[in-house]
Amino acid sequence: MMIQNSDQEKQLAARESVKFLRNNQVVGLGTGSSAYHAVVAIGEMVKNGLEIRGIPTSVKTKTLAESLNIPLIDIHTVHSIDITIDGADEFTEKLELIKGGGGALLREKIVASLTRQMIIITDSSKKVNQLGKFKLPIEVIPFASAYVMQQLEKLNGTGHIRQNENKPFLTDQGNYIIDADFGLIPDPEDLAQKLNNIVGLVEHGLFIHLASMVIMGDGDTTKTFKSRL
Ligand code: 5RP
Repeated sequence: MMIQNSDQEKQLAARESVKFLRNNQVVGLGTGSSAYHAVVAIGEMVKNGLEIRGIPTSVKTKTLAESLNIPLIDIHTVHSIDITIDGADEFTEKLELIKGGGGALLREKIVASLTRQMIIITDSSKKVNQLGKFKLPIEVIPFASAYVMQQLEKLNGTGHIRQNENKPFLTDQGNYIIDADFGLIPDPEDLAQKLNNIVGLVEHGLFIHLASMVIMGDGDTTKTFKSRL
């Protein structure tokens, strides 16, 4: 029977991704509903004897990992992370990603940058030919938010500060998120460079050259897209 529910596709992708885990690895633990399934599966594997140490990408994931008795390690004590499993809001076959729908993009990008094998897990709705339908999350210092917004306009973007119960949503670092609309993004690398130059912009959700593979749930099976680099 075909499974079409996106959460079931996420769960299928998560189950496939944890097959890459090995004893003694340092494992980056992603944030969001897809990563949730991976963390739960890892918790089960730890219960059954897998020996890993996790590095969570958000306070929420840390709480979940602790509740599952997954041993954690301080990011400051490692030089690299063996494998990370995380979700994405959009991906292309070139493995360009938009991330940050859950607001954890800064820690996610730091963890991804330290990671040797970055596995992205998604449902089938996340695959696109060109990034940009999903609004690009951008983490900003609150003091700089109006300035950053002006700079985004110079790049033909518009944006609004993400809200939570009528107040600005705050990231785990106490920053704001601007959800920015640039229309479809023909050259994500070029936009990423331009965003990197804006003062007060802490990080953006374009993840380029970071993913090693995307495992996408697709009905009742999974499809894997690998980096050609
Ligand atoms: C959080 C993220 C998530 O990985 C992304 O939003 C995908 O979430 P989900 O797995 O719930 O669809 O980047 O900052």
